[in-house]
Amino acid sequence: MRTTVAIIGAGPAGLLLARLLHRAGVDCVVLEARDRAYVERRQRAGMLEQGAADVLRECGAGGRLDREGLVHRGFELRFEGEAHRVDLPSLTGGRTVTLYPQTEVVKDLIALQLAEGPPLLFGARVVAVEKTDGEQPLVRFVTEEPGGRDGPERAGGPERTLECEYVAGCDGSYGASRRALPPGAVRMHARTYPYSWLGILADVAPSSDELLLAGHERGFALHSMRTPALSRLYIQVPNGTSPGDWPDDRIWDELDVRLAAGDWRLQRGPVLTKSVSGLRSQVIEPMRHGRLLLAGDAAHIVPPSAAKGLNLAFGDVVTMARAFTHWHRSGSTSLIDRYSDNCLRRVWQAQAFSHEMTTLLHTPPGADAYDRAMQLTRLRRLTGPTAAAAELAENYAGAPLI
Ligand code: APR
Repeated sequence: MRTTVAIIGAGPAGLLLARLLHRAGVDCVVLEARDRAYVERRQRAGMLEQGAADVLRECGAGGRLDREGLVHRGFELRFEGEAHRVDLPSLTGGRTVTLYPQTEVVKDLIALQLAEGPPLLFGARVVAVEKTDGEQPLVRFVTEEPGGRDGPERAGGPERTLECEYVAGCDGSYGASRRALPPGAVRMHARTYPYSWLGILADVAPSSDELLLAGHERGFALHSMRTPALSRLYIQVPNGTSPGDWPDDRIWDELDVRLAAGDWRLQRGPVLTKSVSGLRSQVIEPMRHGRLLLAGDAAHIVPPSAAKGLNLAFGDVVTMARAFTHWHRSGSTSLIDRYSDNCLRRVWQAQAFSHEMTTLLHTPPGADAYDRAMQLTRLRRLTGPTAAAAELAENYAGAPLI
């Protein structure tokens, strides 16, 4: 097989890149290790910045988003028993965010790609990315039979190769692209936070129309929603916590304490899923080695506190698509050569904002009264009529991508 751009991974980054390149007339192929059902079922992020939603609309993938997405014009920060609403349009010149699950973004992009191209191969696990220092990189992959219900795929067919001009590594933080980086070729910045999130999906209508982020002395809590009938809620727990440590009633009781504000009441309902995930940050610099360019989780990870993961992935691939299209039409690699620097400015901005929202709203082990006073002082500035509030809203709503 041969193509111009080999895209590894059919997550949001790989799928949006394929859509943008296809519409620009740049030949590409997407290789995805898992089967379609698995990829479309993976619960991940759920909030699109204005810029990300606009990109989906601009490339013809915004229909269902506009019909089913929940447009949010603000969110609340809660601390000391008080609720402080942050109004996005008035602080950002009209920008909003949209709640639309990543699973739905992926379904929409897959449906478009299967209908209109470019080729999307499921069950195609990349096992090596070679010759990225040369003019003709080579991607080796094996086709796999879909696993059982959730079981791993079983290696099936013979090894195949995809020759290309460039490789887009959109295969997440455990993919083949990172493994293809020669030792010493990149710097990895990493941070692991001293706490985790216990998340539940509950079969109950949200108790608020907007997101509620609580920075309680006992720890962080988040009230969000998947759909108008399903609530998504999280509490900070110690690293090493197992979901079994927290019976449903204990979770609801803790959410009541941490999210309390005035006479607001949290509605309870059956817990459908319960899971614990750690909080970590990673940045790979540069986001490129030779003819291998990285995007999305393959290049960086952010803690979920500011919901930047999906939006950063979109920012990367909009930049990458622009660079490949410029090269395809002019022969100039100037934008490809500036790809990593152009992405990393936005990546570090999102890292800084995610880090601030994480340390501001979580209570680390061993925190004392001074630490708490620092958090409350910062929270009061961010929720007052100050320039800090405008900066918070700008960071939360994100910058335009096109
Ligand atoms: N060969 C082929 N495909 C692979 C390989 C491989 N060796 N390794 C991983 N993949 C696939 C995975 O199966 C997955 O579908 O690459 C895809 C990577 O998708 P994501 O992990 O969703 O990463 P990305 O597209 O960058 O999206 C980032 O996803 O993890 C969340 O919070 C994150 O919302 C953010 C978004």
